[in-house]
This record gives sequence, structure tokens and C-alpha cells, in this order.
Amino acid sequence: MTTETGTLPAAEVRSMFDRIAPVYDVMNRVMTMGLDQRWRRLAAQAVVRPGDRVLDACCGTGDLAVAAARRGGRVTGLDFSPRMLERARRKQAAVTWVEGDLLALPFEDGSFDAATVGFGVRNVADLERGLAELTRVLVPGGRLGILEITTPTGFLAPFYRVWFDRIVPLLGKLLKGGAAYSYLPASVRRFPGPEALAELMRGVGFGDVEYRTFAGGIVALHTGTKS
Ligand SMILES: C[S@@+](CC[C@H](N)C(=O)[O-])C[C@H]1O[C@@H](n2cnc3c(N)ncnc32)[C@H](O)[C@@H]1O
Repeated sequence: MTTETGTLPAAEVRSMFDRIAPVYDVMNRVMTMGLDQRWRRLAAQAVVRPGDRVLDACCGTGDLAVAAARRGGRVTGLDFSPRMLERARRKQAAVTWVEGDLLALPFEDGSFDAATVGFGVRNVADLERGLAELTRVLVPGGRLGILEITTPTGFLAPFYRVWFDRIVPLLGKLLKGGAAYSYLPASVRRFPGPEALAELMRGVGFGDVEYRTFAGGIVALHTGTKS
């Protein structure tokens, strides 16, 4: 397997996540030293209002969809990996879980008031198309929140390189199914920085695009409103 998800066909990305599914939640907690759930809560708080119809795309094992449901959203979680979805389904019966592709969303135009993507857009083969699909399914004025790993440039940069490039892939190898974690450093490196992602969002029709970073710039939360 190549370590560069950008070069993988969608079917291979999907089967990689199918293999990772059993260890995904544990790896998240370990990799982020338990901070990941807080970031998801902040993402949900930023864009979801009670009663909103919410799409959580690339929902994986469902943690961000669950955070959105706790905010009072009526949530649909979508992912193309059956094994990730299997785990999501066990977590929250109140969310509608849908197997589908972000690049061809199975929803009518203007079906949602808000959309979220947590640690998902980095893995999508055609990011602009994914963003365009999210724009399409939102109502005008609908809000998008994207949570994604980014590369810090400040004092944390050397620590971060050792953590993500060396320790995380090693931890992955220790867990059954976790060998694919060697993909992570490359997928983060090829992903646009926070400014470039903000520009892409503006390019597909989002206004009021802003971002803030967490944990010294390791994670960014972008928000925008469909014009
Ligand atoms: C790193 S996981 C993120 C899971 C979850 N959102 C979270 O907060 O932990 C990325 C997910 O994106 C999904 N994914 C990648 N490309 C996709 C696509 N084109 N359509 C649907 N899901 C996709 C993968 O199957 C995987 O479950």
C-alpha cells in the first residue's frame, strides 16, 4: 500500500478505513492525548443550532455526528466505509447513518442547515468537488464546519514531526489493523494549510470563512456560511 492517500483510488481509501475501524477510536484518544472529543464538541458548537438538519460527512465511527446530535441537531452521518459505519451505528440510534460518497452525496439540493466534516476532507480524492457537494446540499445561509489536522509552524513543530511521523505509525503497527496509520503523516503533509483551505471554501461559495487552531496549531476548525 502506498502511504500517500492522495494517490489512492477511492476503493482503496475505503478498504483502508475498513481495516482501521476496530482500532480507530483508541488511536484517536491516544494520538491526541484525549483532546479529540473536545475538538469535535467545539466544531459542533460552532455550526449546529438546536433543530438543525445536520449532515456529518465522512462520519467514520460517528463521534462528530454524536456531538452534533447532543447540540440538538437532527443528524445524518454519511461515510463510504461499511466497517466504520458499523461502529457508528452502535453508538447512537438517534442519528441516521448512511453509506455513501461525499463526492456524490445522495441528497437533494438544500437538504441541510449545517454540515460538519471531522478529520475527513484530508482523505477525499477531490477536495474541491467534496466542498462543492457540501455547498450544494446546504440551504443558503447554511453553515459548514471542517475540523482537520494541520501542520504547526511554531515551537510545537519539531515535537509534532516526531509524534506524527514516527510515534503514531509505530503505535499503529502495535495494534491489529493499525498498520495503515503509516498513511497519516503523508496525508497531513499533502493537505493544504489553513489559509489555502479557507480559500478553497471561498472558491466554492462560502462566505464569512474563518478558522481557529487548537493545541498549538495541530488542528484547525474552519467555518463558513453558504452565500
Ligand atoms: C479519519 S476518518 C474521520 C472519522 C470521523 N469524522 C471523526 O471525526 O473521527 C475519515 C473518514 O472519511 C471517510 N471517507 C473518506 N473519503 C470519503 C468519501 N469520498 N466519501 C465518504 N466517506 C469518505 C473514511 O471512510 C473515514 O471513515
